[in-house]
Amino acid sequence: MAPMTRYRNIVILTGAGVSAESGIDTFRSAGGLWEQHRVEDVATPEGFARDPDLVLRFYDMRRVAIQTKVPNAAHEALARLDREWAGRSGGGEVLIVTQNVDDLHERAGALNVLHMHGEHLTVWCTACDARHRWTGPLIERPPCPACAAPSLRPDVVWFGEVPYRMDEITEALARADLFVSIGTSGAVYPAAGFVRLARELGADTLELNLERSQGSAWFDETRLGAASVLVPQWVGEVLGD
Ligand code: APR
Repeated sequence: MAPMTRYRNIVILTGAGVSAESGIDTFRSAGGLWEQHRVEDVATPEGFARDPDLVLRFYDMRRVAIQTKVPNAAHEALARLDREWAGRSGGGEVLIVTQNVDDLHERAGALNVLHMHGEHLTVWCTACDARHRWTGPLIERPPCPACAAPSLRPDVVWFGEVPYRMDEITEALARADLFVSIGTSGAVYPAAGFVRLARELGADTLELNLERSQGSAWFDETRLGAASVLVPQWVGEVLGD
């Protein structure tokens, strides 16, 4: 099959479902993270102000947990697309916009990854605004490597905070002629609104998800199934395997 070169620029949005088969809990499935913890307690600035130890322990646990996980076939396929697309499409772009705060896209070899909700393996100093790669705990209030203040917090975007690099995302959607959403429930904005923006800007839209999401009606096509099956299959179609 010839590569789908009617497309040049592809924007891919991923959510927790792309990491589920790597053993990282999603948020809204039965037994998921938000069933074990109240969002307002562990994922809001107010919760952090109210009980910083609770929040730091929650993220210390998740920072350790993700380092024991490995990418699955979906991450590997997206990394392959990222590597091969420019050559197959005559210079087209791929951008993976992820809501996930794990580093499995990068560990699979993807290079064009944008973490709109931040990352577990980065910390942010609220005293000097520096960001640092961090793999250990924060509960002991370690000093900021830049200013020595005991003011490091998880560099994760909490509810009520502004997602990162929205201008870059909007510009990429304006250039995209294909938008693919993988493993997200379409429950949280602004990510849940990307499909409508992509459509308005002329892109084709495809959803790959275990079940219909809140945004399924906005997609030209929805394929239901596990990411580890659907994503390699779709990448093979796009690259013309
Ligand atoms: N393959 C494909 N999709 C899957 C799989 C799988 N193996 N397992 C679960 N899913 C789907 C679920 O059907 C669901 O639609 O992934 C989606 C996960 O939805 P959520 O748990 O809501 O996660 P997500 O959409 O990433 O949440 C968005 O909300 O809580 C905030 O900041 C947090 O980034 C997160 C945002």
